Amino acid sequence: MKTIDDYIRSIPDFPEEGNIFRDITTVISDKDGLQLAIDEMAALADVDFDHVVGLEARGFIFGMPLAYKLKKGFIPVRKKGKLPCETESQEYDLEYGTATIEIHKDALKPGDKVVIVDDLLATGGTIEAAIKLVEKLGAKVEKIVVLVELKGLNGREKIGNYNIASVVAYD
Ligand code: PRP
Ligand code: HPA
Repeated sequence: MKTIDDYIRSIPDFPEEGNIFRDITTVISDKDGLQLAIDEMAALADVDFDHVVGLEARGFIFGMPLAYKLKKGFIPVRKKGKLPCETESQEYDLEYGTATIEIHKDALKPGDKVVIVDDLLATGGTIEAAIKLVEKLGAKVEKIVVLVELKGLNGREKIGNYNIASVVAYD
């Protein structure tokens, strides 16, 4: 029986020397890999919640099928300037510079319960910003589910006291 690790392609020295890039395109291009990824992420979303919040772009790949499978709504968090109605914004740090993500202000109501989904947890900056967006709307983050966690980048420590689960973790 294969595990998700068997479907992930590891690319040395991308995007820079010394980094091993964990490529999820080989998970989703394989029909069994795709099923396994969504089934395992669904099993980790083992809380009572109303909506999946997915993070552009790779978080959409996993968040949408997960929401469909679990019969929940899907709420996109997008990069700045893409959402057409009134938004909340949150800036976060990248390795070089900053970025901003946004959510529609009316996408969640106070008290709504969400699971945040992304492909990968690295430094945790993206997910930390997504948590802030959800909380600005008064909603509650019940769980964070990612396919891949890069433990060496200490994303969990940055995010702090939230329920985080990953299907596969690399040192
Ligand atoms: C990648 C990845 C996560 C984030 C993880 O997204 O898909 O969202 O980085 O990094 P962090 O934990 O250090 O914040 P990227 O910003 O490259 O965007 P993409 O999904 O549009 O490729
Ligand atoms: N794979 C995919 N996305 C990433 C990685 C990685 O290894 N590191 C930071 N973002």
